[in-house]
Amino acid sequence: MEFPLHISLVSFLLLLSIVNPIFAAEVCKFPAIFNFGASNSDTGGLAASFGALSSPYGETYFHRPVGRFSDGRIILDFIAQSFGLPYVSAYLDSLGTNFSHGANFGTGGSTVKPPYSYPTSPTFNFSFSPFYLDVQYSQFKSFIPRTQFIRKQGGIFANLMPNEKYFSEALYTYDIGQNDLTAGFFGNMTAQQVNATIPDIIDNFSANIKKMYDLGARSFWIHNTGPIGCLPLFLANFPSAEKDEYGCAKEHNEVSQYLNYRLKETLAQLRKDLPDVAITYVDIYSVKFSLFQDPKKYGFEQPHVACCGNGGEYNYNVNALCGTTINTNGTKTIVGSCEKPSERIIWDGTHYTEAANKVIFDKIATGAFTDPPIPLNMTCHRSVTKTL
Ligand SMILES: *[C@@H]1O[C@H](CO)[C@@H](O)[C@H](O)[C@H]1NC(C)=O
Ligand SMILES: *[C@@H]1O[C@H](CO)[C@@H](O)[C@H](O)[C@H]1NC(C)=O
Ligand SMILES: *[C@@H]1O[C@H](CO)[C@@H](O)[C@H](O)[C@H]1NC(C)=O
Ligand SMILES: *[C@@H]1O[C@H](CO)[C@@H](O)[C@H](O)[C@H]1NC(C)=O
Ligand SMILES: *[C@@H]1O[C@H](CO)[C@@H](O)[C@H](O)[C@H]1NC(C)=O
Ligand SMILES: *[C@@H]1O[C@H](CO)[C@@H](O)[C@H](O)[C@H]1NC(C)=O
Ligand SMILES: *[C@@H]1O[C@H](CO)[C@@H](O)[C@H](O)[C@H]1NC(C)=O
Repeated sequence: MEFPLHISLVSFLLLLSIVNPIFAAEVCKFPAIFNFGASNSDTGGLAASFGALSSPYGETYFHRPVGRFSDGRIILDFIAQSFGLPYVSAYLDSLGTNFSHGANFGTGGSTVKPPYSYPTSPTFNFSFSPFYLDVQYSQFKSFIPRTQFIRKQGGIFANLMPNEKYFSEALYTYDIGQNDLTAGFFGNMTAQQVNATIPDIIDNFSANIKKMYDLGARSFWIHNTGPIGCLPLFLANFPSAEKDEYGCAKEHNEVSQYLNYRLKETLAQLRKDLPDVAITYVDIYSVKFSLFQDPKKYGFEQPHVACCGNGGEYNYNVNALCGTTINTNGTKTIVGSCEKPSERIIWDGTHYTEAANKVIFDKIATGAFTDPPIPLNMTCHRSVTKTL
């Protein structure tokens, strides 16, 4: 006997939803985002602490410097937008901030391991942020009771604080690790020496995730480290580095890849160890690298040349960084931006343009570059992210 069509369709869909629970799952509605990281995800923390960035930072979208290391929005902004959430306010910014839907603990120059554990650069002064990952964790840890106290107290600040239940429902985003590698390379370590520090960096990172879990965090979205060897910062400062067919420094990229390999493996283990957790590993490396492999495909040109900079093959000079004032033959000029930032991948030699960030966001949001392979808007589902 044959079943009527609608019954078999129903049972087929039912079967599908058992076999692949993502079809049954609803789109995630994260009420808040808490971010941890470095300059790729800073929305004003470093600028609030140590002085504002100068124009032309922010010129494309905000039309003024807003503490983001780009000409416009960064990936975290696109993530927030995609959930209909406001841009994430920097925790360290005491002016005009609104934490009702999250907070950003990431600051430019942050490392996973304490900055004092790295050698100082013999060639130039890199200032790594004092707000390394453990400090960001402590800030977050006290943020919970303090914001809840303020809410209970009432008054004008109460509504600027997150609802208590948001801490377990929020999306916890991470973008950190690149500066640990940068600190090693600029501290005159060989690629092998930097490589050898990676297990320690990953252990430290893993310990952080566990401690965040203990504070109630459940949904994690974790960016790996990009291809540092494609950045003007590295290309200009290590001119003798061997290049790959796309003009990126091979050895530097290999060290990023090893960090990413260890990170992915560690996150897979954490997914098994921690009950009721949703951990998504995001392969930012592959997405960023694809821009350098085929820039034209995305409307970009001069892939390794910074848009905002001052001369040289990569338009990058550590003594004349984007937005700084330089003295040429007695005339003061500001290091400014290229004609069309929308046609460039790299903004200031280290960070990406808004145009590149948008392409990167669109790709990572699909799930094609994540482990497990599920879209951003499904990453709250614990059973799915555990079993896929
Ligand atoms: C804080 O942000 C929320 C969400 O965007 C908004 O509804 C609220 O009005 C803001 N509060 C203030 C005081 O601006
Ligand atoms: C960097 O390291 C190399 C090899 O270890 C050494 O020869 C060189 O003197 C170092 N340079 C500085 C500036 O410390
Ligand atoms: C680093 O900064 C210190 C203090 O500002 C200065 O004395 C030193 O010469 C700088 N070193 C380099 C390599 O620029
Ligand atoms: C880094 O270390 C790993 C493990 O020892 C090794 O497989 C890899 O080739 C190393 N990479 C570099 C660039 O030294
Ligand atoms: C990370 O490493 C530092 C120094 O090595 C250590 O003090 C800290 O406790 C570690 N953090 C975690 C969360 O394990
Ligand atoms: C600065 O002066 C030198 C010598 O007169 C000249 O060669 C150079 O082109 C000038 N640089 C700029 C940027 O004007
Ligand atoms: C969820 O994300 C996927 C992949 O980016 C997208 O195709 C889909 O439209 C999104 N769903 C909703 C309801 O926003």
